[in-house]
Amino acid sequence: MLADKDRIFTNLYGMHDRTLKGAQARGHWDGTDKLIQKGRDWVVQEMKDSGLRGRGGAGFPTGLKWSFMPKESDGRPAYLVVNADESEPGTCKDREIMRHDPHTLIEGCLIASFAMNAHACYIYIRGEYIREKEALQAAIDEAYDAGLVGPNAAGSGWDFDIYLHHGAGAYICGEETALLESLEGKKGMPRMKPPFPAGAGLYGCPTTVNNVESIAVVPTILRRGGTWFAGFGRPNNAGTKLFAISGHVNNPCVVEEEMSISFEELIEKHSGGIRGGWDNLKAVIPGGSSVPCVRGEKMKDAIMDFDYLRNDLQSGLGTAAVIVMDQSTDIIKAIWRLSKFYKHESCGQCTPCREGTGWMMRVMERLVHGEAEVEEIDMLLDVTKQVEGHTICALGDAAAWPIQGLIRNFRDEIEDRIAGKRIAAE
Ligand code: NAI
Ligand code: SF4
Repeated sequence: MLADKDRIFTNLYGMHDRTLKGAQARGHWDGTDKLIQKGRDWVVQEMKDSGLRGRGGAGFPTGLKWSFMPKESDGRPAYLVVNADESEPGTCKDREIMRHDPHTLIEGCLIASFAMNAHACYIYIRGEYIREKEALQAAIDEAYDAGLVGPNAAGSGWDFDIYLHHGAGAYICGEETALLESLEGKKGMPRMKPPFPAGAGLYGCPTTVNNVESIAVVPTILRRGGTWFAGFGRPNNAGTKLFAISGHVNNPCVVEEEMSISFEELIEKHSGGIRGGWDNLKAVIPGGSSVPCVRGEKMKDAIMDFDYLRNDLQSGLGTAAVIVMDQSTDIIKAIWRLSKFYKHESCGQCTPCREGTGWMMRVMERLVHGEAEVEEIDMLLDVTKQVEGHTICALGDAAAWPIQGLIRNFRDEIEDRIAGKRIAAE
């Protein structure tokens, strides 16, 4: 279990003062100018050494992403954009940072922007996050008043501005290129990649889009050293991580833990165990609604990191939003509800997603009621394969994977329901 001294987020539960005074008392904004004066290359190298992988769900190495930004300006401004459009069902970790520890995010924005030659940073916050927007804006105002951002930010010699942009409630605007379109005042529709944002991002300029947690951990990593952070977890799965545990546990919570902690330890230590005991565990979605569910008995010994969940369980760490379901759950209905969500949130730009999400949802609806033929299970699986990998953005995959996970893990339950309906009808 992670020791208190190794926690990056010292006010996750809002027990302490979240204002600048409180943040400084907990060590934030300490020697920020000195970190910046060590230079861009040093910052990027420390981030590479830390092994931090993006915390928004995809797990792309953060230091590597930063290194894609042009070293010298070609006349275009560079931007840092922070993706605070946290909308993945089950995911509510960034919310806690913005509510209770906003200064660690703002300090991270300054340092990361400096490292990427950006004088401006936009934070795109989810439309539904009203209190979080207020807390973050209050912290930004405080930072301006104290000279920590603005001209010669924190006495570092770097001029830096930060803008908070409030979204309007579309899930797709959390996709990084849809987010950029939305920031530019257009409809939030994903762009084709490449080019990646580092080549042509906001207003066609070099841009890095990073998740809130990825940026908020930067100051502590630099103060303690990349190798300190890399010391947690397994190789390729480094660091501490916020887990958002919801569903049928005794104590749902958001907690910072060491990466690669076992599922059992995570749930026992922080969530008081499974409701009704471990025998009552039916299924887990270990990384937010985009990743496939896993049968409960396979999860008990699972290692909570990118590689184990992908390679050993055909699922993923995603945003580390751990959704626990006990035996009372109608798992077919639960996954149908996700299908409905993805259908609703599809931007409709590409055919496999626009049409496929509707198809998948309708077949899922019939499976919920057992009103399908057994052969349709394989047909549905086939449709998910037609959608997966054939769309502009990852929403198509996100709609396909939960259904694949359901069929892989709970085919027996789907078949039983169809058979039961038949018997009832006879
Ligand atoms: P992705 O794998 O396409 O990209 C991840 C990041 O790496 C992006 O910033 C991308 O620009 C960069 N990247 C990838 N390949 C690159 C290359 N060759 N050169 C330069 N940069 C490169 O994944 P994507 O579509 O950005 O995110 C999908 C994930 O988002 C899903 O796994 C899901 O878990 C997560 N997600 C999270 C949500 C949330 O609320 N936090 C909401 C919805 C999805
Ligand atoms: Fe839009 Fe879906 Fe295509 Fe993404 S995959 S661009 S959400 S239609």
